[in-house]
Amino acid sequence: MTVSNVHTQVQVLEEEFTNALANVKNASELESLRIQYLGRKGCISKLFKKLEILTIEDRKPSGRDINHLKQKVQTALRESKTIITREDESKPFVDLTLPGNQWSIGRYHPVTTVLRQIKSTFERMGFLVVQGLEVETEYYNFEALNIPKGHPARDMHDTLFVGDEIVLRTHTSPVQVRIMESQPPPVRIISPGRCYRRDTPDATHSPVFHQVEGLCVDEGVTFADLKGVILTFAKNMLGSDVKIRFRPSFFPFTEPSAEYDFSCIICHGKGCKVCKGTGWVEISGAGMVNPEVYKYVDYDGEKVTGYAFGMGVERIAMLIYEVHDIRLFYENDVRFLYQF
Ligand code: FA5
Repeated sequence: MTVSNVHTQVQVLEEEFTNALANVKNASELESLRIQYLGRKGCISKLFKKLEILTIEDRKPSGRDINHLKQKVQTALRESKTIITREDESKPFVDLTLPGNQWSIGRYHPVTTVLRQIKSTFERMGFLVVQGLEVETEYYNFEALNIPKGHPARDMHDTLFVGDEIVLRTHTSPVQVRIMESQPPPVRIISPGRCYRRDTPDATHSPVFHQVEGLCVDEGVTFADLKGVILTFAKNMLGSDVKIRFRPSFFPFTEPSAEYDFSCIICHGKGCKVCKGTGWVEISGAGMVNPEVYKYVDYDGEKVTGYAFGMGVERIAMLIYEVHDIRLFYENDVRFLYQF
């Protein structure tokens, strides 16, 4: 071992260090390089140890040589650390411990679910599901249903007009006329859909609501058939304990006319908000098709008879889900909707 040997080794180490430093990508690689050169067992310490085998005179220049290398390495490492830290800080901070985004899964609106149940119950009883129009002419919404202009029955429906003699339908009954116009008897259909009335919203009334119209016309159809179909429907939807009752009523397009109620399956007659303490919830208007309507659709009222009904879907949903205010269905409060 000579002074020139040490000098060569210092040069080799310096070159190797410069190359290694150029390839450093982050703080941890820089720290590894520091340990490799400046650590207690690093290459510079090992080189210092080799001085022991040199003569006293040779140690001084070789020691200076190695110290010079050590200073260069220290300075280069310090400068690189400053640059790398600045780069790291400018990178966007990603906090891997943050919880991920929660994606909530959609679900059917309770009114949609009930509509689907109603449709499938009637389909199983042999009814065909047909679609009507939400924007109707006054003729189909009123006249052809035996409600001429000026008839007091028009007052029962607070109507929204969208044009001259064009209305947002106030009930699904116009479908009766359109279907009978389009085909001869027998007819056995239901028609679900939205209806619109300028009703003041309250616990049981909404300006937009759903009805399901039912119409069955054939030879020998009686009021007893209507009662049988409604009772079967009620038991299918609300369970075998439910009772139905028919009350006399008036609609110009049915004669005789009735309204029917379902017994309140929430309080079983004890009295609650949904049945307003009566034990019954009004569901629908109904009756035997008035022969006057057959005149508009060219049906022979001497030959055929039929029944019709138009039930409120929200009222049934309120019974099934124990919802005491219809407005809750339309406020779009997810805390409410997620319960179903
Ligand atoms: C009618 O609309 C008739 N077209 C029903 C009918 C059809 C009678 C066929 C005879 C033959 P009514 O206006 O009573 O009738 O409405 C029927 C049902 O719709 C009511 O019993 C109620 O359940 C529901 N309903 C009516 N108005 C509203 C409203 N504003 N909000 C929620 N539901 C309503």
